[in-house]
Amino acid sequence: MVIIWWFWSLLAICASDSFRDQAVAIMRTTPVIDGHNDLPWQLLNLFNNQLLRPDADLNKLAQTHTNIPKLKAGFVGGQFWSAYMPCDTQNKDAVKRILEQMDVIHRMCQLYPETFMCVTNSSDILQAFRRGKVASLIGVEGGHLIDSSLGVLRTLYHLGMRYLTLTHNCNTPWADNWLVDRGDDEAESHGLSPFGKRLLNEMNRLGVMIDLSHVSVATMKDALQISRAPVIFSHSSAYSLCPHRRNVPDDVLQLVKNTSSLVMVNFFSNFVSCSDSATLPQVADHLDHIKKVAGAGAVGLGGDYDGVTMLPVGLEDVSKYPDLIAELLRRNWTETEVRGLLADNLIRVFSEVELVSNNMQSPEEVPITLKELDGSCRTYYGYSQAHSIHLQTGALVASLASLLFRLHLL
Ligand SMILES: *[C@@H]1O[C@H](CO)[C@@H](O)[C@H](O)[C@H]1NC(C)=O
Ligand SMILES: *[C@@H]1O[C@H](CO)[C@@H](O)[C@H](O)[C@H]1NC(C)=O
Ligand SMILES: *[C@@H]1O[C@H](CO)[C@@H](O)[C@H](O)[C@H]1NC(C)=O
Ligand SMILES: [Zn+2]
Repeated sequence: MVIIWWFWSLLAICASDSFRDQAVAIMRTTPVIDGHNDLPWQLLNLFNNQLLRPDADLNKLAQTHTNIPKLKAGFVGGQFWSAYMPCDTQNKDAVKRILEQMDVIHRMCQLYPETFMCVTNSSDILQAFRRGKVASLIGVEGGHLIDSSLGVLRTLYHLGMRYLTLTHNCNTPWADNWLVDRGDDEAESHGLSPFGKRLLNEMNRLGVMIDLSHVSVATMKDALQISRAPVIFSHSSAYSLCPHRRNVPDDVLQLVKNTSSLVMVNFFSNFVSCSDSATLPQVADHLDHIKKVAGAGAVGLGGDYDGVTMLPVGLEDVSKYPDLIAELLRRNWTETEVRGLLADNLIRVFSEVELVSNNMQSPEEVPITLKELDGSCRTYYGYSQAHSIHLQTGALVASLASLLFRLHLL
């Protein structure tokens, strides 16, 4: 009796291990490309971006979800590092701050060349896979970080930005964010403004992926309709499993399917279970759902590690991806579907974005109008309206004065 019990438990353990072994075997040739990791934000918070500080050693860093040994254990072969700055930089030092976050990512690649390889195109991601390095790319999180400037957009592209999240948790003068759907922000552009639409066209021309995590549903729909290339959600889950406005509703998943776009699932407990606690199988449920509604080509992983406070049991840090893959294999995902989720779907989308891009086409030049801009920290060089607005105000005051004079009120 005891022997039979022992035999069956051993069999159960072996069976579960075999899924993990199979996951690892797949990940040796197709590692994870994760859509969103906030380690650069941690580097700013903890070390003010001083990577040479002894306690900033990425081989030993312990207080973060991400470090070099954990990346290796998790078979992370590609990472979009998030260059992020909060919305309170809008109309202030947003552009300076984002340049510094892009710089710290470049310095990370420079300081750890054995681990990271900064790349900017899909073929170099595959090159990094072959060399056993973490292909490192830059995603800029928040449209406010380009300060409504096509020139800044292009310059960030030259510095390596390969996706731009159209908003963070605030509207920009040209796109509405998800808080509008919760009633916590006013709708301003009702999706994308005319300038926002031209900006997306410029992103297509350059070959910058359009990221719709954090935007309102109206912005999602506008972008999915306008973009000439597939788009991504770099870190969002399924709304029908957890009705949080950061997640993607089913009607939008239909459009994702139609456009061969990609949803990279966020592991933040609040987006997975709509509560503070969640589990690895619940993340697998989100992946199953998106696969069911939008197809196996539409799923990816965007863990949001080091950007969130609560993670599911079993997915505590970046070393845990193989356990999630084992769970999907247990759920009968095919090897092709798993490889799609891990990397192939992102590579497909990124390659299509590269194909659509066209440097021969002339750059978008018409700037945002002055009256769409906000804030007092800006100068108005180049805007001839600035001069005429000033003159018009002067003229208005003068005619008002003459009117009052004629009415004998002055
Ligand atoms: C990818 O980027 C590298 C580095 O800039 C460049 O050498 C290579 O030609 C690019 N590959 C393609 C296919 O554009
Ligand atoms: C998806 O595309 C098909 C065919 O192109 C079209 O009939 C269908 O209405 C589209 N669905 C949505 C949700 O746009
Ligand atoms: C997976 O496939 C096996 C064999 O066909 C079947 O017995 C099992 O119920 C399936 N599991 C799930 C979760 O679909
Ligand atoms: Zn985010």
